[in-house]
Amino acid sequence: MSAEVINGKDLSYELKQEMKEEVNVLKHKGLTPHLTVIIVGDNPASKSYVRGKQKASDEVGISSDVIELPASTSEEELLQIITELNNDSTVHGILVQLPLPEHIREESVIVSIDPSKDVDGFHPVNIGRMMTGEDTFLPCTPAGIITMLKSKNIEISGKHAVVLGRSNIVGKPVGQLLLNENATVTYCHSRTNDLKAFTKQADILVVALGIPEMINDTHLKEGAVVIDVGINRLDDGSLTGDVDFDRAKEVTSYITPVPRGVGPMTITMLLKNTIKAARGLSG
Ligand code: GUN
Repeated sequence: MSAEVINGKDLSYELKQEMKEEVNVLKHKGLTPHLTVIIVGDNPASKSYVRGKQKASDEVGISSDVIELPASTSEEELLQIITELNNDSTVHGILVQLPLPEHIREESVIVSIDPSKDVDGFHPVNIGRMMTGEDTFLPCTPAGIITMLKSKNIEISGKHAVVLGRSNIVGKPVGQLLLNENATVTYCHSRTNDLKAFTKQADILVVALGIPEMINDTHLKEGAVVIDVGINRLDDGSLTGDVDFDRAKEVTSYITPVPRGVGPMTITMLLKNTIKAARGLSG
C-alpha cells in the first residue's frame, strides 16, 4: 500500500480563501476581527512563529498587532497588559506566545485571559467546554488535525486512535477531540512500556513526541492513518517529523508530511478562532 498524503498547506490555502470571504462580510458590517499577540523575550523560534501568525492574519484580512516585551518583564506587568486587552473591545483575540521566561508562571497568565478572547483555547474554562463537547475555542493544533481527517472523509467513529504524547497543547486535547468524535482513544507517552504493542493496534496514530523519525513502518498496522505533529530541525537545517515518512508511507492509507502537514493547519485554526471571537463565541 502507498499512502495518500494529506497536504496541510493546500488545505490551509483552501480554508483561508473561505475565511477571506467571511472576514469581508464582517468588514462590510463594520467589524474587523483583531488579534493581539504578546511575545516576551527574544526566543528566535517564537519570533518566527509570531511572524507567521501575523502574515496569515494579513492574508485573510484579520488585523493584528504584536506587543513585544523584554525578557525582564514581571508577571505582574504582563498580567496588567492582559487586563487592559481584556477590557479593550477592539481586541477580539489575545494570544500570549509560549514558552514564557522562567520567572513568569504560565498558568497564571493563561487564566488571566478572558475566556471569550482565548483564541489558543488554553484557558481551563475552554478546556472544560471542550471536554463536555460544548461549542468553544478549540486548541489550534488538535483542531487542525481533526479538520485534516475530515477533509479526507476519514472515519473516526468506532476507530482505535492512539495518541503518542500527553502535552497540554497537543496530546491531551487531540485525544479528547478524537473521543468527542467517538473514537476509542489510547494515550501513550515517554513512560509507556512496549510502545509498539499499542501503535500496532492504531487505526489512527497521532504522533507528538518530539523525537525525529521515531516511528516507522515496523510500528504500524497496514492501512493505518498517521498524523505527524513533530517538527524537528536536523543538523543540515532541514525539517523532519517524528515519523520516518518514506518507510511509513509504504504501509499507511493516509499520512501527513513534514513540512506542509499539520504545521500550517495550526495557524489556520488560530485565524478561525479569531473570526469566531470577533463574532462572539456562539457565532
Ligand atoms: N508555542 C508553541 N505553540 C504555541 C501555540 O499554539 N500557542 C502559543 N500561545 N504558544 C505556542
